[in-house]
Amino acid sequence: MIDLIRERLNQVINPATGATLASENRWQHVGMEGDKLVAQYNRDGISPAEKRVIELEIQNTLSELVGVDKILVKTVSSQSQDVFKALDEKNEQPSAAAPAATAPAQLKAGHGTVGNKKPVPGVGKIIAIGSGKGGVGKSTFTANLALTLAKNGHKVGLIDADIYGPSQPMIFGKRDEKPRSNSERKIIPVEAYGIKFMSFGFFINEQDPVIWRGPMLGGVLSQFLFDVDWTGTDFLLIDLPPGTGDIQLSMIQNAHVDGAIVISTPQDIALLDAKKGVEMFKKLNLPVIGMVENMTSFVCSSCGAEHHIFGHGGVEKAVEQLAVPMLGQIPLELELRTGSDSGHPYMTQDQLRDRPVWNAFLAIGEKVEAFFNPSPVNESRPGFFSKILGLTK
Ligand SMILES: Nc1ncnc2c1ncn2[C@@H]1O[C@H](COP(=O)(O)OP(=O)(O)OP(=O)(O)O)[C@@H](O)[C@H]1O
Ligand SMILES: [Mg+2]
Repeated sequence: MIDLIRERLNQVINPATGATLASENRWQHVGMEGDKLVAQYNRDGISPAEKRVIELEIQNTLSELVGVDKILVKTVSSQSQDVFKALDEKNEQPSAAAPAATAPAQLKAGHGTVGNKKPVPGVGKIIAIGSGKGGVGKSTFTANLALTLAKNGHKVGLIDADIYGPSQPMIFGKRDEKPRSNSERKIIPVEAYGIKFMSFGFFINEQDPVIWRGPMLGGVLSQFLFDVDWTGTDFLLIDLPPGTGDIQLSMIQNAHVDGAIVISTPQDIALLDAKKGVEMFKKLNLPVIGMVENMTSFVCSSCGAEHHIFGHGGVEKAVEQLAVPMLGQIPLELELRTGSDSGHPYMTQDQLRDRPVWNAFLAIGEKVEAFFNPSPVNESRPGFFSKILGLTK
């Protein structure tokens, strides 16, 4: 078996040169350590982007032989290259080629190792929120679920891991915010409406091409988990990039995630992708909390009639087939969009209380709580749930 693994690893190409790592004598150690396969190579001259490509190739080539969560890729280099840094007090612009610096908050792209799951210090439960397809309302949902859980007395954090279109800074009205770090060199999350959050949007230039972001940033989620000060967080929600490809996989296989939610619209095509999302989480042995149907219907404000613009009943059928819970259905409502666009998310606007969307979020919030505490307690004063559930470590 190990010979077969070595044979496969010997084919892995160094994208920096086009030659195999083996021909460049970079492999330093390949062997089993307990139930983990440890593969270590010298990465001198290999950029974080290229390192990421190598990691994905290693995973792909070994996928039939070793489970992805059992592969630990280690690298040795004589110098490390910091790719992103949070802005310092002088308000410098972040740069892809920023050298190793003493700036207070830093992110190093591509420095995550594969298959090393650790609990996140200070965090109770981590929930990944995914969708097979873009534009189904995943970010809007994540932000408003965070606010709903906070209303119920939980301390909530949110990671915007969407490298394609980080939107949480806009939704929370913090587009110009620059994260700072504390005396222990941990990044301090940005806070809005009581939610602490961290976003790729704070570190990338919106003009940077997506193709450049993808391979580089797969490992950065682990830094958002482990290099950010999440002390005292009951629930940490992760807004994943849309889709079920390598990026999503490599992001969550590093994290110790407690549950996943998949968002879909009722359309057939969106549902097909959402099913892939559920399957992806199941494959990673991640408990699926349930599916949410967004944009389920539109209630006409003048005639009061309910229109099923994107079809009807699809997600209900899907949850049956996939044997996962249905968490709820969120109708289309103009204020959900305008709230997100203006930095005043829906669930912060008390005048919308008791509207269908508001009630849908309350019901979904309860189901999420019940998932982690199967016999819910009928009391929700601030901090109460968190204390009795022991959510905060
Ligand atoms: N139920 C809803 N009613 C009205 N507008 C909605 C609803 N859900 C989402 N929207 C709007 O639809 C658009 C897409 O939503 P959002 O950005 O949350 O989706 P996404 O799945 O995160 O998309 P992306 O793939 O781009 O990250 C946004 O303008 C949002 O405000
Ligand atoms: Mg989004």
